[in-house]
Amino acid sequence: MRTVVRWTLQHGLPRALMLRAARAGDAQARLIVDPGTCDDPFTLHAEVRARGPIVRGRLTYITASHDVVKDVLRNEDFRVGDISAAFPWPLNLAHEWSFDPTVLHPLEPPSLLAVEPPEHTRYRRQVSRVFTVRAVEALRPRIQAAADALLDDLVAAGPTSAVDLVASYATMLPVTVIAEILGVPPDERSEVLTYGGGAAPSLDLGLSWREFRDVDRSLRAFDAWLGKHLQRLRQAPGDDLLSQLVTLDDDGERLSETELRATAGLLLAAGFETTVNLLGSGTELLLRNPEQLAVLRADPSGWPNAVEEVLRVESPVQLTARSALRTTEVAGMSVPAGQRVVALLAGANRDPAVFADPNRFDVLRSNAKEHLSFSGGRHFCLGASLARMEGEIGLRTLFERFPELTLAPGAVRRRTRVLRGWERLPAILGEPAPKERTPT
Ligand code: HEM
Repeated sequence: MRTVVRWTLQHGLPRALMLRAARAGDAQARLIVDPGTCDDPFTLHAEVRARGPIVRGRLTYITASHDVVKDVLRNEDFRVGDISAAFPWPLNLAHEWSFDPTVLHPLEPPSLLAVEPPEHTRYRRQVSRVFTVRAVEALRPRIQAAADALLDDLVAAGPTSAVDLVASYATMLPVTVIAEILGVPPDERSEVLTYGGGAAPSLDLGLSWREFRDVDRSLRAFDAWLGKHLQRLRQAPGDDLLSQLVTLDDDGERLSETELRATAGLLLAAGFETTVNLLGSGTELLLRNPEQLAVLRADPSGWPNAVEEVLRVESPVQLTARSALRTTEVAGMSVPAGQRVVALLAGANRDPAVFADPNRFDVLRSNAKEHLSFSGGRHFCLGASLARMEGEIGLRTLFERFPELTLAPGAVRRRTRVLRGWERLPAILGEPAPKERTPT
C-alpha cells in the first residue's frame, strides 16, 4: 500500500481528530498534539488527577492515579493492543487495515507489547529461558567496563570544552550493552543505532508525514538487517543471549522466524531507546540538584535508590494503554467493552496520595521504588533489572570519574511523547578523577 495512504490513515486523520479534541480540552489529545505538553506534561497530568481517579475523554478514558493505573495494568479485564479502538467508526477499521504486515512494528503483533496469552506466555517463556536473573547479573562487570571505556574516550575532549553527554555516553552505554547481549558485531552498531533512533517516534500517534516516512524507512531497514543478523547467528552462534534464543531446543514452543525478529527487534530497541533516557534524565536531574548529588557522594550506597527516584520523576516511558475486554468498573466508573484507557505512568509516579511532595527530586525518598515506570502485570518490563543496573553503574561511574561535571547551555529535549528524555545534553567535564575506583 502506498506510504502516503498509510500515513493518512495511521497519523494524518487521527492527528486532525486529535487537534479538534485538543481544542475542546481533551487531555489525551493535548498530550499528543499540544507543543507545551512535550516540555511539561506534568501540569496536565495533575489536571487529569484533579478531575478524578479516571476521566472520560472524547477518545479514551485516561488516568493519572497511582491506584487506578496499577489496577488497570493488572486487571484481567484489560488487554493490550488495538490502538484503533480509540477512534470512531469507520476510522478505526481503516486505521487497523492500514498496517503493513510485512513491516514489524513494536505496537503490532507479534511484538510482546501487543500480544496476550497464549502467544504472550509462549514468547515471554522463551525469552525468559535465556534472559535470566543470573545472565543479567553476570553482565555487571561488562557494563562497568563499557562505562569506563566510554568515559576514558571522553577525557580526550579536555576539561573545558562542551561534550554532548547524550550522544557520547547516555546512548552509547546501553547500545554497547544490548549489542553484546544480542551479538551485534561492533562495526554494525552505529548502523543499528541509526535505525533505532529513526524508529523511536513509532510509539507516538499523530506523526507528521516526514516523521512517518523516516520511521517507516527505519523500521524496514532495521527489519532487513535483523533478518540477516538472525541468519548469521543460526549459522555461527556466539556466546550471546540472542544466539541462545535462536538455537533453543525445539520443545514445541520455538518462536517462528517472524516472532523471533519481532522479539529480538523489541529487545534491541527497548534496550537502548529507554535506558538512554534514564541516563540522560538522571544526569540532568543530579546536575540541577547538586545537594542531591552531595548526598550520594557522602554515601554511595544510595545510588540504587537514586535510580528509582530518577525513574519516578522522569519516567522514560510516559504512558501505556489498555482496552477493556468486557464492560468493567474502574474506580466507580463503568468502562464499556472495547474502550481504551490511557494509563499515565508518569502521572501515577507523581500522585501525591502515594508520594509526598511528588514534584521534588529526593534521592533518599523511602518509597521511590513504588513508581510504575516499568509498567505492571504480565507486561512488566522484561529488562527492568538490566536497566536498573545500567542506570546505577552508568550514573555513578560518570559522577565519580568527572567530579567537576557541570551543565553547559544548549540542552534540548526529545520531541517524542511516549518516550521522554534529552536529545542533547552539553556538559563541561572538568578535571577527571584518577581512575582508581571501588570495585562493584
Ligand atoms: C529505563 C529503562 C526502561 C524502561 C523505563 C522500560 C519500560 C517498559 C515499559 C513501561 C514496558 C511495558 C509497556 C506496557 O505495559 O504496555 C516495558 C516492556 C518491555 N521492556 Fe522495558 N523498559 C526499559 C528498559 C528495557 C530494557 C533494557 C529491555 C531489554 C533489554 C527492555 C525490554 C522490554 C520488553 C521485551 C518489554 C515487553 C514485555 C512484555 O510485553 O511482556 N526494557 N518496558
